[in-house]
Amino acid sequence: MKAFVVNEPGAPESLQLTELDTPIIKDDEVLVKVRAISINPVDTKTREGKSLYNTLKETEPVILGWDISGEVVEAGEKVTYFKPGDEVFGMVNFPGHGRAYAEYVAAPEAHLAHKPANIPHHEAAAATLAALTAWQVLVNEADIQPGQRVLVHAAAGGVGHFAVQIAKYFKAFVIGTASKENHDFIMNMGADEQIDYNEYKVEDVVMDADIVLDSLGEENSLRSLKCLKEGGKLISILGGAKEAVQEEAKKRNIEAKNYLVHSSGEDMAKIADLMSQGKLTAHVSHVYDFEDIAKAHEQVETRKTRGKVIVHVS
Ligand SMILES: NC(=O)c1ccc[n+]([C@@H]2O[C@H](COP(=O)([O-])OP(=O)(O)OC[C@H]3O[C@@H](n4cnc5c(N)ncnc54)[C@H](OP(=O)(O)O)[C@@H]3O)[C@@H](O)[C@H]2O)c1
Repeated sequence: MKAFVVNEPGAPESLQLTELDTPIIKDDEVLVKVRAISINPVDTKTREGKSLYNTLKETEPVILGWDISGEVVEAGEKVTYFKPGDEVFGMVNFPGHGRAYAEYVAAPEAHLAHKPANIPHHEAAAATLAALTAWQVLVNEADIQPGQRVLVHAAAGGVGHFAVQIAKYFKAFVIGTASKENHDFIMNMGADEQIDYNEYKVEDVVMDADIVLDSLGEENSLRSLKCLKEGGKLISILGGAKEAVQEEAKKRNIEAKNYLVHSSGEDMAKIADLMSQGKLTAHVSHVYDFEDIAKAHEQVETRKTRGKVIVHVS
């Protein structure tokens, strides 16, 4: 099968197209013929030798990627939920070795869900790592409730545009930060208010929030504490809840923590259900051919992507 490997970390060109054996599945895995994959900032950071590179390097060859949508072609002996012919999607083995930049992926059945029949593969592939992050942060970690005020940073991005929709689905009041050109986009996703972060400091214009989803890091986390009410929650997906933030949060009676997404077929099934009902939409702004995966990395590295970047595999 064709796959992209990283022999030496570095620029997007370090993604090398190669021919590998099709993976052999374990008893609890399915073999998925991949139709589409999605590209995330963690992919580009890992390609550069940062983030999860050392973890992946333990089991060479290093094959990046975690987000897949495709068709089951083989099922392990202990697999009960999927059979050959089923269309599935999910985030495979995160934060381990997902090996998604390939024509075939061995995926634990516990990491997948049935792809809704009315959702094309490229949109399904888009609603995996980023959608799971938004779901796990807001629902599993923050226990979002109707009427709460939720501040979503980088609301036009991969995680952000799902977080806006999920918060809205739970009947929260949603405030999103974005540059001016994305304001209509985030309002269409369901935001109630938008803040141009180039023009305003968020702490000057947002108060009494119950939940903040930070995806920008420590400095942003620290400033965002001022937007929260007592008893509020700040969850950073970029390690922003460092010591200084924790200390300040304690003084303000705020819970501040970092969060790392993990593979979950159970959460994927909830995302699938919302998508099938049209209550959650993946916005795909760029689709590349498999051979052009380096260009997909360059797009993600602009940090200006609206929604998701997808690579069509087969
Ligand atoms: N811990 C975890 O489990 C986890 C999971 C997923 C992602 N992450 C991390 O979270 C970050 C975001 O991920 P992503 O997939 O959403 O990224 P992304 O899709 O690449 O985000 C791009 C968006 O960021 C916005 N943006 C850039 N700078 C901004 C700023 N200063 N203020 C507000 N918005 C800004 C841009 O909107 P404008 O054009 O409007 O500026 C753009 O739409 C990444 O660093 C990623 O590695 C962590």
